[in-house]
Amino acid sequence: LSRSSFPEGFVFGTATSAYQVEGMANKDGRGPSIWDEFVRIPGTIAGNATADVTVDQYHHYKEDVDLMKKLNFDAYRFSISWSRIFPNGVGEVNWKGVAYYDRLINYMLERGITPYANLYHYDLPEALEKQYKGLLSRQVVDDFANFADFCFKVYGDRVKNWMTFNEPRVVAALGYDNGIFAPGRCTPHSEFGNCTEGDSTREPYIVAHNLILCHAAAVQRYRERYQPHQKGRIGILLDFAWYEPLTDSVPDQEAAQRARDFHVGWFLHPIVYGEYPKSMQEIVADRLPKFTENEVKLVKGSIDFVGINQYTSYYMYHPGTALPPVRDYQMDWHAGFAFARNGVPIGPRAYSYWLYIVPWGMYKAMTYIKDHYENPTVILSENGMDDPGNVTLPQGLHDTTRINFYKSYLLELKKAIDDGAKVVGYFAWSLLDNFEWRSGYTSRFGLVYVDYKNLNRYPKMSAYWFREMLRRKNN
Ligand code: GCO
Repeated sequence: LSRSSFPEGFVFGTATSAYQVEGMANKDGRGPSIWDEFVRIPGTIAGNATADVTVDQYHHYKEDVDLMKKLNFDAYRFSISWSRIFPNGVGEVNWKGVAYYDRLINYMLERGITPYANLYHYDLPEALEKQYKGLLSRQVVDDFANFADFCFKVYGDRVKNWMTFNEPRVVAALGYDNGIFAPGRCTPHSEFGNCTEGDSTREPYIVAHNLILCHAAAVQRYRERYQPHQKGRIGILLDFAWYEPLTDSVPDQEAAQRARDFHVGWFLHPIVYGEYPKSMQEIVADRLPKFTENEVKLVKGSIDFVGINQYTSYYMYHPGTALPPVRDYQMDWHAGFAFARNGVPIGPRAYSYWLYIVPWGMYKAMTYIKDHYENPTVILSENGMDDPGNVTLPQGLHDTTRINFYKSYLLELKKAIDDGAKVVGYFAWSLLDNFEWRSGYTSRFGLVYVDYKNLNRYPKMSAYWFREMLRRKNN
C-alpha cells in the first residue's frame, strides 16, 4: 500500500475539531459554547475533564503543521469555533479570534498543507442556546448563514474546501435523543437518558431539520456570493456506521435498511433527493418536519461533495426475534444492535465502547453511498481508532494495532474506489491525542501522542507508517 495505490491527486490528511484541540476555551475574547457549559456538569465527562487547555493548538499550531508536513500529509481538516469569531453567536466580532485562524491558515499554506475548514463541530455559541434554545429554533438558520458568510468572506481567498457541519446525526441524536452530548436534552427519566428537559420523540427531528436548513442556507450564500470568484467547493460531513443484517431473514434485512435510513439517509436523502427516506416518512409520520417547496429547491443538490466519517459496523436485527433488543437510542428505528453473530464478534473492539474494528464495513459503506446516492464525490473525512488513555510513554508509541487498522481500512477503501466509488480524499482521525468528548482524555485517537503534563508531542509508530506510505517516489 502506498500513495500510488490511490488515484492521481488523491488527498491525504488528518482531522481535528476546534473544541477538541484548541484550548484557550475562554480566552482571547472567545465566548462560551454549549460544550463549555456541558463539561461543567459533574459526572458528565470522564475525570470531570474540560477542554480549557486540551492540546493548546492555539499556541502550538506551527509545531502541529510542521508535524503534518514531516509526516507527508497534504491537507488538514480543522474546524472554526463559531463563538471565537462571534462570542455571542451574532453581532460583535472578536478580531483576535479571526486573527487566530488567519495565522493557522497562512502557516498551513506556507508549509504546503491544504486547509479543509469545517464550520460546525458541536460547538454552538451558548448565547444562542440561552436566547432561543439554539438548534431547536428556526432563528439559528439565519445566524448560522451569517457566520458562514463571514468565514467565506474573510478566509475564502485561501480556503477552497468548506464543510458546513460535522455529523449532524450525532448532534441531533446524542444531543436531543439520549442526551449524552451537549446540550444534554432527552425525555426526562427515560430508559436511556438522565435529562431534566427534552422530548426524545420530537426534538431530534426538529434539530436535524434545522441543521439541514442551516447547511442549505450557508451553501446558498457560498454559491451566490463567493464560489463564482473564489472557486472552492462545499459539502457536509456525515457519520456512517455500516449496518449489516444479523441474519438474511427479510425482517433483519429490513431492520438494517431502516438503520441506514435513520442514520446516513436522514441527511443524505434530502440533500440528494429533496425528501426524507420513505421509511422515516412512514414511521415518524407527523412528527417529521416537512420541507416547503422552496426549501426543497435549496436543500436538493446542496453539496459539491459529501464527507463520510467511517469507523465501525454493527449487526442489526428486527426486535421481536429471539434476542433481547440492544439499543442505544430511543428513536424510531425499530432495529436492535448486535455485536456478535453465532458468538463470533463482528470484529475486535477498540477502546471506545462503540468502536469495533471491521475493515470490510468500509467497503460496504462506500459502495452503498455510490449505489444509493448517485455516486457523489466523497471525501473519507474521518477514520481511526483509540487505545486506552492509561497508556504511558514509551509503550503508547508502539501502536501496531493502529497501523493494522489503517492498513486494512485503506485497502477496503481502495477496493471501493477500484469498483467505481468516487472517493477523492482520506483524513485520519486524528493528528494528535485530544479531548474525546465524554471520554475526556481517557481515549487516545492520535497518530501523535500528547503528554498532557507538558503538552509535548511524540509521533507514534502509526505516524511513521503514514510517513512511509505517503512518501512520494520523486522526493
Ligand atoms: C466527530 C467525532 C470526533 C471524535 C472521533 C472519535 O464527530 O467527528 O465525534 O469528534 O473525536 O469520531 O470518536
